Amino acid sequence: MTAPSGELRAFLAAWVRNPVSMGAIAPSSRGLAELLASVVPSAGAPMVVELGSGTGAITNAIERRLPAGATHIAVDANPAMVAYLRQRCPGVDAVVGDAAELGALLEQRSITGVDAVVSGLPWALFTPTAQGNVLREIANALGPVGVFATFAYSVARPLPSAQRFRRRLQSNFNEVVRTKTVWANLPPAFGYLCRQPLQVSDR
Ligand SMILES: C[S@@+](CC[C@H](N)C(=O)[O-])C[C@H]1O[C@@H](n2cnc3c(N)ncnc32)[C@H](O)[C@@H]1O
Repeated sequence: MTAPSGELRAFLAAWVRNPVSMGAIAPSSRGLAELLASVVPSAGAPMVVELGSGTGAITNAIERRLPAGATHIAVDANPAMVAYLRQRCPGVDAVVGDAAELGALLEQRSITGVDAVVSGLPWALFTPTAQGNVLREIANALGPVGVFATFAYSVARPLPSAQRFRRRLQSNFNEVVRTKTVWANLPPAFGYLCRQPLQVSDR
């Protein structure tokens, strides 16, 4: 893990205040962040939403890839994380909000289609119902060629809850591809890259 010390301090401060909402012991590594950010279009004027942006490990990787005309909205439920991100990445539209209300948040901004959603959300801490609600919001926000990237920890992969999450992804997207493991992440993690969101009526 190569998080700068300011980022680590901000992450630890949030973790000490509310470990349950963080769901991780450290910010994502650069390798994992770049893997997830690889789904973001690097040309045109894409609309990108990041959920659970935290201290900005994935935010930075997305920003490095995005072209000048892009819009990048980063949503996090923790106001302290959002305040930190506004300072660290002033070009990003950092918003305090709940991923479960993504549709309403986009509507407020008159955004009708999103090209990519990248998640740093702690899925394992969500109830099955909450997971389903957030995944539905994401699938609905994406246009037909939109793409969704998220990650999971390798050690948890055999667990029934992790298998259930993968099935949930498959019920919201026609294509779900598991990436290689990023061993340098703490703990090791892999990505799910999901394409062809299904319509609500298809589920
Ligand atoms: C594990 S941290 C990930 C931070 C960063 N993306 C990374 O990968 O290092 C999870 C983040 O998700 C945020 N979060 C948890 N539940 C959320 C929700 N329902 N909506 C938006 N953000 C949420 C937490 O506040 C926290 O900052």
